[in-house]
Amino acid sequence: MSEIIFPPDFAWGAGTAAYQIEGGWQADGKGPSIWDTFCHEEGRVFGEQNGDVACNSYELWEKDLECIQQLGLTHYRLSFSWARLLPHGTTQHVNQKGVQYYNKVIDDLLACNVSPMVTLYHFDLPQALQDQGGWKSPSTAGLFDSYARFCFQTFGDRVKLWITINEPYVCAKLGNEDGIHAPGLREKGTAAYLVGHNMLRGHAMAWHSYDSLYRPQQKGAVSLAINSDWIEPLDPGREADVAAAERDLAFTLGWFAWPVFVTGDYPEIMRSAIDAQSAKLKHSGESRLPRFSEDDPTILGTADFFALNHYTSRKATAGGDCEETLCMKSDRNVEEVVDSSWPICGVSWLAVVPSGLRKLLKYIKDTFHNPAVYITENGFSQVGPLQIEDVHRCQFYKDTILEVAKAIEEDGVDVRGYFAWSLMDNFEWADGFSVRFGLFHVDFSDAELSRTVYRSGKEYAKIIAKYTSGQSK
Ligand code: GAL
Repeated sequence: MSEIIFPPDFAWGAGTAAYQIEGGWQADGKGPSIWDTFCHEEGRVFGEQNGDVACNSYELWEKDLECIQQLGLTHYRLSFSWARLLPHGTTQHVNQKGVQYYNKVIDDLLACNVSPMVTLYHFDLPQALQDQGGWKSPSTAGLFDSYARFCFQTFGDRVKLWITINEPYVCAKLGNEDGIHAPGLREKGTAAYLVGHNMLRGHAMAWHSYDSLYRPQQKGAVSLAINSDWIEPLDPGREADVAAAERDLAFTLGWFAWPVFVTGDYPEIMRSAIDAQSAKLKHSGESRLPRFSEDDPTILGTADFFALNHYTSRKATAGGDCEETLCMKSDRNVEEVVDSSWPICGVSWLAVVPSGLRKLLKYIKDTFHNPAVYITENGFSQVGPLQIEDVHRCQFYKDTILEVAKAIEEDGVDVRGYFAWSLMDNFEWADGFSVRFGLFHVDFSDAELSRTVYRSGKEYAKIIAKYTSGQSK
């Protein structure tokens, strides 16, 4: 490729999530969420840390806005805290202070010519709804729809890009199978499928609500953010490895993308693997992978674009060491391997493979009918001693953005935007503050929680300036 080019209206963004940055966990009438509860239980999070204060964006939002402006972002992805807006989870009681807070954030962004992309649900279910069964309960989908309608009604005159649910895979599996995210359940081989099912139902209801009630006036777009690694066979010449890679993608990306973009139902590979494993283990009762019924909303077609969260790549081979146990791993029957040539930087799961993103984008184009794609999360972490001069991360962003350009130019993928994760260091879930994904460093030992740009933030700003130079902003 001679010179890399991006479409003139390409979205250059960075993202955050409410629980990871806001703090103010009890401020001004906010209700508790499952992450408040989870972090306050002993032994859940690294160093017993929590998001009670985090980056204190509830009070320091204007500092965040300065960072956004310094980077020259055209878009900023944030999430709403459901329990800040609706402390008990339902629209019967609205917290006006929460409405004011997000109104200010949105208005400030627009005044600076930055478009908001809002995620309605980024892992933080109101605790009041968890107490009634949480996402395992079918009625949570309807309550999510009411919350979504409230948000469309209140903020949709100004917000034009919506994400309903962030990473249903992570919510379902890490929260309900592995127990390492809130609500901390370890109900192996059952709960995650149920949670994923109700999330898909809730997402679809919200999309239909937008489509019929709000789209005509508001003219925005709605999707759900699906996380996926790029997966390839360990030995491409070995049939079992090829099948394992296909199965792995079906159980992660396919679990949510297949129903929404291809058939309205789960991938056949997933259904047959779970059914076969259930039979083998003589698991009785209804299918562990629920079925959509006539009363459910239509799932197919409920995304106006493809929102992809992508971090890393893996090689797949058949196997798994818990074949006799009821669990997702044995249903999937895949062993994932990191290629020895891929550097691991930051957290142990994050092998740096920029070319994997290009391959995944091409796969998405070919499999899901050439959708418009926003890369809603991509990034690379730092652990251990602080390095403001994060040269590896600079290289990562340069290499990755080049791969995105190639996907657009050479593979014809309709990529509309790229959102770096994250605007600033924040509460990285079970890893607490030990893992830093920011373009800005946040000094959590300083009462002011000062934000300092990393070298990678400067690099990203340069990239953005280069590709937006012809644009109005
Ligand atoms: C995603 C999540 C983000 C962020 C990121 C880095 O799964 O949506 O909130 O934590 O991972 O690990």
